[in-house]
Amino acid sequence: MKQWTFHPVQTGLKGTIRVPGDKSISHRAVMLASLAEGKTTIEGFLNAEDCRRTVHAFQQMGVTFREEHSQLIVESPGVDGFTAPTTALDLGNSGTTARLLLGILATLPFNTTIYGDASLSKRPMGRIVKPLQLMGATIEGTNDDQHLPLTVIGGTPLTGIEYELPVNSAQVKSAILFAGLGAACPTTVIENVPTRNHTELMMRAFGMKVEHEGSRIQLTPQNPKTTPVIQVPGDISSAAFFLVAALLVPNSDLLLMNVGVNSTRTGVIDVLEQMGASMKQLNKRIANEEPVCDIQVGSSALEGIDIDGSIIPRLIDELPLIALAATQAKGRTRIRNAEELRHKETDRIRAVVHTLTRLGAKIEETEDGMIIEGPTSLKGSTVSAYGDHRLAMMSAIASLIAESPVTLDDIEPINVSYPQFISDLTNVTGAIY
Ligand code: S3P
Repeated sequence: MKQWTFHPVQTGLKGTIRVPGDKSISHRAVMLASLAEGKTTIEGFLNAEDCRRTVHAFQQMGVTFREEHSQLIVESPGVDGFTAPTTALDLGNSGTTARLLLGILATLPFNTTIYGDASLSKRPMGRIVKPLQLMGATIEGTNDDQHLPLTVIGGTPLTGIEYELPVNSAQVKSAILFAGLGAACPTTVIENVPTRNHTELMMRAFGMKVEHEGSRIQLTPQNPKTTPVIQVPGDISSAAFFLVAALLVPNSDLLLMNVGVNSTRTGVIDVLEQMGASMKQLNKRIANEEPVCDIQVGSSALEGIDIDGSIIPRLIDELPLIALAATQAKGRTRIRNAEELRHKETDRIRAVVHTLTRLGAKIEETEDGMIIEGPTSLKGSTVSAYGDHRLAMMSAIASLIAESPVTLDDIEPINVSYPQFISDLTNVTGAIY
C-alpha cells in the first residue's frame, strides 16, 4: 500500500493530455492478435496492469510479445498452435481478462485453471459459466461455479447457441462470442440494451463475420485472420477524470487528445453536456472502425439531472465521477438502474457514497444508485481507494476542489488502468507531488 496526499489547486487546469489507450479495446486487440496466426502490431496499447494480465495469459500459451517504440508486436502460432500453460493463469484484478478468456479457453483442447486477487475472486462468474455450459463447455470450480478459481476442461465440443443476456454486460456478450469462434454452428447473442461493441468491431477488423441486426448479434464460427496493424484509441473512461476535473476547477481549459468516442461509451459526454458542461469534439476520425476525436473542455456551471435506463451501460464506469460532478451541480441528481455498480472491483455504490460523504457531500445510497444534492463544498479528509483504480482517481480529482488536502490510503490500484495518471495530473495542475 502506498499512501498519497493530493492537494487542492489554486489556479485553473491548463494544457494538453494524450489520453492512454483504451483498456477494453487493448484486451480485445491482444486476444484477437493471439488467436490469429502471424504478426500484428498494436499501436496505442494500454501498458497497464490489467492489460498485461491478458498478455501474460497468452504468453503462457505460446504467443510471443515484444515492445518496440511504444508499439506491442504480437507473433502467434494461431489458436490451433497454442500449448497448454504449465501453471494456472494469475489474472490479478482484471475482470475483463477473466471473463473474456473463459470464452476462449472453452474452445481449446487442454485444461486451464484461472485465478485472481481477492477482489476478482469475489466477482460473479456464474453469468459467464452458465451460457458457456449451455454451449457444451465443462467448467469446474472448487466451491461452486460462480467464482474464481475455475478450471476449464479442454477438448469439449461446443455448439452455437441463441442467448438473451440476462444482465447488460459486454463481458458476458464477448465471452459467448469468443466461445462461438470454436462452435460447430453460428452463435447469436440478444442484447436488449446496447453494451460496448468493441469485441464485434475488433472481430470484424480480424476478418470475421459478425452481423448486428436490431438487438441480435450473430457470429459465424471461423478463425480470425491476422491484420498487420491495430490502432487503439485513447480511453474515454480515463479521459473522463480530466473532463470532470476541468469542469469543476474554475478557469480551466484542457485539450484531451485521441479520445475514443464509440457511441456505446459516450454516455458520460451526453450526461455532462445535459448537466451544462462546455465541451467541443474536434478533429473527428476513425481508427479500425472506432470513432476518435480530441475534446476541448472548460470550467462550467452544472445542474443536477436524472440518470437511468438504457444510458447506464454507456457510462457505467464513469458513474463515480458523475457522482462527484453532481456534488458541485445545482439541485438534485438521481442515479437509478445502476445495480451493476455493486459488482465492480468493489461495491462502487457503497464506496462512492462513503468517500463523498467523508469529503462533506450530501449523498445517499439507494439499492440501485444514489441521490446527490448540490452544490456542497468539499473538505479534506483521509479516504480509502477500496483497492479500486476508479475510486482512487475519483478521490484525487475531488481533492482539486476540496478546502484542504485529501489523503488516499493507496495509490497503487491506479496502475490497473492509468499508470501515468499522477504525472498527467501534475502537468495540468502545476502541482509537485
Ligand atoms: C468491460 C465491460 C464493462 C465495464 C468494464 C469493462 C469490457 O463490464 O464495466 O470495466 O471491457 O467489456 P460489464 O460487462 O460487466 O458491464
